[in-house]
Parts: sequence; structure tokens; C-alpha cells
Amino acid sequence: MSKAKPPRSFFKPLAIGAPAPFRELPVNVERMIHFVPPHIEKVRAKSGDIAKKADVILANLEDAIPTDAKEAARAGALAMAKEFDFAATGTGFWARVNCLNSPWFLDDVTELVTKAGNQLDVIMLPKVEGPWDIHYADQLIAQLEAKANIKRPIMLHAILETAEGVQNVEEICLASPRMHGISLGPADLAASRAMKTTRVGGGHPFYKVIEDPHADGSARAAAQQDLWHYTVAKMVDACCTAGIKAFYGPFGDIADLDACEQQFKNAFLMGCAGAWSLHPNQIKIAKDVFSPAIDEVLFAKKILEAMPDGSGVHMIDGKMQDDATWKQAKVIVDLAKQIAA
Ligand code: GLV
Ligand code: MG
Repeated sequence: MSKAKPPRSFFKPLAIGAPAPFRELPVNVERMIHFVPPHIEKVRAKSGDIAKKADVILANLEDAIPTDAKEAARAGALAMAKEFDFAATGTGFWARVNCLNSPWFLDDVTELVTKAGNQLDVIMLPKVEGPWDIHYADQLIAQLEAKANIKRPIMLHAILETAEGVQNVEEICLASPRMHGISLGPADLAASRAMKTTRVGGGHPFYKVIEDPHADGSARAAAQQDLWHYTVAKMVDACCTAGIKAFYGPFGDIADLDACEQQFKNAFLMGCAGAWSLHPNQIKIAKDVFSPAIDEVLFAKKILEAMPDGSGVHMIDGKMQDDATWKQAKVIVDLAKQIAA
């Protein structure tokens, strides 16, 4: 894997005035990225209330926004930035723009950065296929930030939703210091891979493993497996290597709260920081799932206390603890502290 160098423009912005200081690596708690269709005034008007519950609120300009509403959605995103002080509730404000080769991308980014650049934390880029997409967006944003004298760099978040993107995920993660994280986009990815499903994330009743035949001929059990395991694992490894965050994306069956919860739990356990929420009910699920359970935190604290310098071997409740479990415990305790802060 070639370690792509961050584009020069990031370090030497052609800024009018002083160059913006590089933003710290993301440490915000971002358990859910809540999607809002900004062209629907009634939904947009609730953004202030939603922001009190959600860690991140995102104005969606891409898929699910009809072609004839693209400009209204862009205008709605700008209105959200103007009407709501998301920073006051510690809520991140993001926008998902249209993909790079669409007729809307350039205007989406230009308007968002120049008119709402000081409110916007992250631009989510769909259908990213390789580091070249990130380099292009990075340079464009650098120009616009310099022109509009934006106070801090806007971060980039890529959606992993094409077979080629999955192939290049390590290089995408390392393509720019602007990279905030990656989300799995299971709907587009399924199409790109010719998977035979019409679902947005989650499992499928055909994807299961059946038990071996029983000697007594009794019925064999079969259990559904996680269709997304490979991609989530690959994404998490790539993100951790680059020091950025991994997210499970959307779970489209809004009514199936149990299945949504289970998919999010798998993602949390495998290293994801959060998931998308498409409905307020999913905000609550994500908030619970992506916060470590109290029992886990208490046990992890025991490990840290038993091994103050993080070395040696200890038995706690019959379980062996060593330097590696100390590190696992630190991940859990650090996250609990971040959430409590
Ligand atoms: C999200 O954009 C997806 O395609 O799943
Ligand atoms: Mg998609």
C-alpha cells in the first residue's frame, strides 16, 4: 500500500490572512449522524430539537433528495446553518453533498463552504473510489476556505459504497489530514457488488449457515450471518491505521428496531464509533449501543486499577488480564469518560 502524502494545499493554504490552524483529530462523541432532508421545511424546522438529542446532525443533499429538489435542499442546508446554533448544544453540523461527477457537487461544496463554512464541521463525500477523489475535494475546499477566510479546516468523511472504494479503502483513509472518518454505505455497495438484495443494510434471510446433519435425523438449525462483517472489519482496520473513525451507515428498515439495534451492536463491538440515524427512534438506539455498558466500564476500571502501569498478569473474577486486556480496558474507559464529559 502506498502511503499517499497529504496534498500540499492543506499545509500551505493560499489563505487571505493567516493560515487556519489544523483542527485536532476528531475526539467528539459521534454515536449517530442524524440525516435531515433540508428541503422539507417541516422536518428542517425540528432540527433544533433533534440537535439536543443527536451527536451529529447532517443535511442530506444526495440520494433520497429528488433531482428537482436538489437546489432547495442546498438552500435548506444553508438555512439550517443560519437558523440553528448547533455548536451551542455541542452537536456537530455536517452535510452530505452529491457525488463528485454529479452536476451538483461543485455548487454544493462552493455554496456550503463560502456561505456556511464557519458552521460546517464535516463534508460527507459519497461514492468515493480512491484517494484521487479525496485529493480533488481537499484542494477545492482549501481554495474555498482561503477565499472565504474560513476559521478552521472543514473535515472530510467518505462513504465506502463501491467495490472499488472498498479495494482502495486504506489509501482513501490516508489521503488527507482532513479525513475525519469513513461510513459503510451498504445500499450502494450492494448494488456495486451485484449482491442480490433490495435492502438498506442489515441481514438477509438467505444469508445463513446451516448445522451439519444430526445423527438422529432431527431438524437442523440455521442462523443468519452478518452480510457486512468483511467490509466493516476492513474499514475499521483502515480507519484505525490512519487514526480516523469508522461508522456503520444506514439501517433502512425503520420499523425493525431490534434488527437495527443488533446491527449497530455488531458494528460497535467491531470498532465502529457510531452509525447513521434515519429516524428519531434510531437516535436512541445508537446512543445506547455506541455507549459502553455500565458493567463493561466497571469491569474495565477494575483491570486498570489492578495494573496501574499496564503490565504484568492478574486474575480478575477468574479471567486472565495482561498488557493487552489493559489496552482493551482503556479503550472502554476512555470512551466512557468522553461520553461523560
Ligand atoms: C448509503 O448511502 C448507502 O448507499 O447505503
Ligand atoms: Mg449511498
